[in-house]
Amino acid sequence: MALLQWQGDKSFICRLKFYVVMLKKSTFLLLAGFFISLFVEAQVLRSPDGNFQMEFSLTNKGEPSYQLNFKNKPVVLSSLLGFDLKNDEIDLLEGFQVKNSETSSKDEIWNPVWGEENQIRNHYNEFLVELKQVETGRIIKIRFRLFDTGLGFRYEFPVQENMGHFVVQEERTQFAMAGDHTAFWIPGDYDTQEYDYMESKLTEIRSLMEEAITPNASQTPFSDTGVQTALMMKSADGLYINIHEAALIDYPAMHLDLNDQDLVFESHLTPDSQGNKGFLVTPVQSPWRTVIVGENAAKILESRITYNLNEPSKIENTSWIKPMKYVGVWWEMITGQSSWAYTDELKAVKLGVTDYTQVKPNGKHGATTANVKKYIDFAAKHGFDGVLVEGWNVGWEDWFGNSKDYVFDFLTPYPDFDIDAVRDYAKAKGVQMIMHHETSSSVRNYERHMDEAYQLMKDYGYLAVKSGYVGDIIPRGEYHYSQWIVNHYQYAIEKAAEYQIMVNAHEAVRPTGVARTWPNLIANESARGTEYQAFGGSKANHVTILPFTRQIGGPMDYTPGIFEMDVFNGSHVNSTLANQLALYVTMYSPLQMAADYPENYDRFPDAFQFIKDVAIDWEKSLYLEAEPGYYLTIARKAKDSGDWFVGNVNGMAGRTGQVSFNFLDPSKSYIAVIYADKADAHFKSNPQAYEIKKFAVDAKSVLKQFSAPGGGYAVHIKEATKEELKGLKKLK
Ligand code: NOJ
Ligand code: CA
Repeated sequence: MALLQWQGDKSFICRLKFYVVMLKKSTFLLLAGFFISLFVEAQVLRSPDGNFQMEFSLTNKGEPSYQLNFKNKPVVLSSLLGFDLKNDEIDLLEGFQVKNSETSSKDEIWNPVWGEENQIRNHYNEFLVELKQVETGRIIKIRFRLFDTGLGFRYEFPVQENMGHFVVQEERTQFAMAGDHTAFWIPGDYDTQEYDYMESKLTEIRSLMEEAITPNASQTPFSDTGVQTALMMKSADGLYINIHEAALIDYPAMHLDLNDQDLVFESHLTPDSQGNKGFLVTPVQSPWRTVIVGENAAKILESRITYNLNEPSKIENTSWIKPMKYVGVWWEMITGQSSWAYTDELKAVKLGVTDYTQVKPNGKHGATTANVKKYIDFAAKHGFDGVLVEGWNVGWEDWFGNSKDYVFDFLTPYPDFDIDAVRDYAKAKGVQMIMHHETSSSVRNYERHMDEAYQLMKDYGYLAVKSGYVGDIIPRGEYHYSQWIVNHYQYAIEKAAEYQIMVNAHEAVRPTGVARTWPNLIANESARGTEYQAFGGSKANHVTILPFTRQIGGPMDYTPGIFEMDVFNGSHVNSTLANQLALYVTMYSPLQMAADYPENYDRFPDAFQFIKDVAIDWEKSLYLEAEPGYYLTIARKAKDSGDWFVGNVNGMAGRTGQVSFNFLDPSKSYIAVIYADKADAHFKSNPQAYEIKKFAVDAKSVLKQFSAPGGGYAVHIKEATKEELKGLKKLK
């Protein structure tokens, strides 16, 4: 294959274009690198399969720029790269020369501790360009990695004489779109991702922004055309394009601000309280900016770019990190039936001063020893690994709204929560306890107590913590996604790892694949979770979008499993019961809750069986049907049992899908138990209309299955003997 081509540039007669077609382990590339450093202004990198082509060049002003094509279709048109710096007269935007460049490639397999599959291939071609700003002598490097599913690139700032510390005013990375794509977006916001998704053309974002910004306990939208990543788009010519970031470490989270005249997105970093967007010290690098692309939506879900761009695990012994299925004292508070708070008498609480023995309990406190024991019994009876308890610790009477620094100590239980008795009871029943730390966004206070709090967990045998960041951040003026607070979330993960504790952080910054490096980060919420179904409802197609957006960065503690859609406070859960079952397959997470009340599971024991059976750790995953906003069908093979599970979630309109079971072993026979919407099911008017069917199936079987509006189906496929198959109808 030809490695080099020389070709005259049509627009600049004297400019040479230099193409490098990547070949694995080519010594020739060394030579190419030499030539590049001397002459080249435009260089081409191809993906291992040759379908992607990324071109890097300097404009005639010396501005770094790149563009990306997929099978000769433009994905990112020529887009500029660089930084505005604070206090520097000369920004890192132009006046650059190529000083050096290198190419390399990698093809390796690694095994995640938990995941959608047990092997991940990390296969890419890399181009690293070193740029020198002539006037200042400053050096930046840009590292591009091109995979068969898209592009990742980051900025690197090596140690150098002219740049030690610097403050970013704005990162100026552009993503110029090739058309007015359809986007699945939520408002760009420095504090929350808890929004319903909008589906619109890029040019319609501005007019829909007001409608999109629904209320939240802490929120700071920043622009009429600002959106969050992971941003999912679809082009008119059938390309699916996803922009996100990977390895967000010691840097503010990136949003995208759209210039809707030119259809160019530009990075918009989360500022700190002073408006600064990152204090950097060399050597340092930005997170990776990712553009995942596919000819169908399933390709976006298959991509492992985000994890691959993160470092391998820093935790050597990972034996304590275990996927968990759990129940908890939670939905009853979310729906308003019980309370986190112990009393209604206190207007304000001062930890260490307020005497809880002097106040009258409100009679609806959820985390009482007796109630917790009930959940432990339920978990033990039905084979759940863990029980979460919220509202166990003092301080909830005024936990948010008052910008209070010292709301919780994470150590002191309420008088009616006997932490010793609970530990002993859980131990006797073989159930693990999950700790809850609502930080009330008082981040400094949490850090102050963190060692003691984690030690308490250790002492009482809690393996995992659910943390939360509701309300405005303290230190006041900081935002949930600024560099300082991003560093806090990371600190909490690493500190927890020291104590061998798994972390599930709600309201923290949305994940960016950091769980590869720190696999004790077993989940985040960091998006609009099931709780919003009790706060007035979420769009019924929400769950068909989340896997393409929020979940690009990592698992979500979505807390599915609601069987009673009309909840205590009068809110309605926009979902059918069968859809709730499917979520255990479609919303990948090594931490899965069965969120409804035990009594509601007792009402539907046949459907509950699926939640009991479904696996939470997978050997492989297949994305069978995918269209964000409309439908998603995933099949997964369980790591331990080898059983297959299929989940389908559906959008607003009824639909009959068709999936082949050709993923099954052709030499084997199986039983499939199908939990599906009845023909008259509907998320609003008839959510509990489900039916359970059993069939004999094999690799030749094809399932044609109806899903109601806001509905879906779940299937458990298990290998079966001839005996077990007797009398069962065959699914053809
Ligand atoms: C918001 C979380 O998402 C929810 O799960 C939790 O119960 C509350 N905060 C209280 O911490
Ligand atoms: Ca939340």
